[in-house]
Amino acid sequence: MQAIQEISIRGKTFIPFIKSAEIEKIVKELSEKIHRHYGGRTPVFVGVLNGVIMFFSDFLKNYPGNCEIAFIQLASYHDNTCSSGKVNIISNWPVDLTDREVVVFEDIVDTGTTLKKIHKMIQDQKVKSSKVATLFFKPDVYKSDLPIDYIGRPIPNRFIVGYGLDFDGMGRNIPDIYQLKD
Ligand code: IMP
Ligand code: MG
Repeated sequence: MQAIQEISIRGKTFIPFIKSAEIEKIVKELSEKIHRHYGGRTPVFVGVLNGVIMFFSDFLKNYPGNCEIAFIQLASYHDNTCSSGKVNIISNWPVDLTDREVVVFEDIVDTGTTLKKIHKMIQDQKVKSSKVATLFFKPDVYKSDLPIDYIGRPIPNRFIVGYGLDFDGMGRNIPDIYQLKD
């Protein structure tokens, strides 16, 4: 039997969860699905920094249509591996979104607190439409009733790192997804 390749980040042990080849497939499918909706038009894809970097970049490489991109940066505060429910805006909309079709890209939706904050931020803009795309979603802990239009993959309520997602600032550069060992 092959040994499980555990990794250690800041003293915590993580075990393999989703390989980069599988993530690639999920992201490609999302690109095609979103293109089926927006193809022929020019939506603005907004990445929520920092966690979205890898997902956003791979999504864009696979997106065959016209688009513009923008970023917002939010910081959600975590007590170790649990959402604290506090979200701060570090950087707001950099482009005029009046009358634009907007898709907000998140690495992961957990409790939905960040999404709620983004939804409020969008309400201040005069967008034509807005949708949300997330690579990962934890349905067991989602507390909001805001719809999530595009979900890459629902996952159990376990803390994950890699592919842009961090544990205490570390692990974003790992190509695969690992999950916290209990
Ligand atoms: P929410 O506001 O509770 O939905 O949490 C959203 C944010 O918390 C995400 O954008 C991530 O930055 C972070 N987060 C939630 N779950 C995880 C996880 O399992 N690993 C790493 N970051 C996470
Ligand atoms: Mg995030």
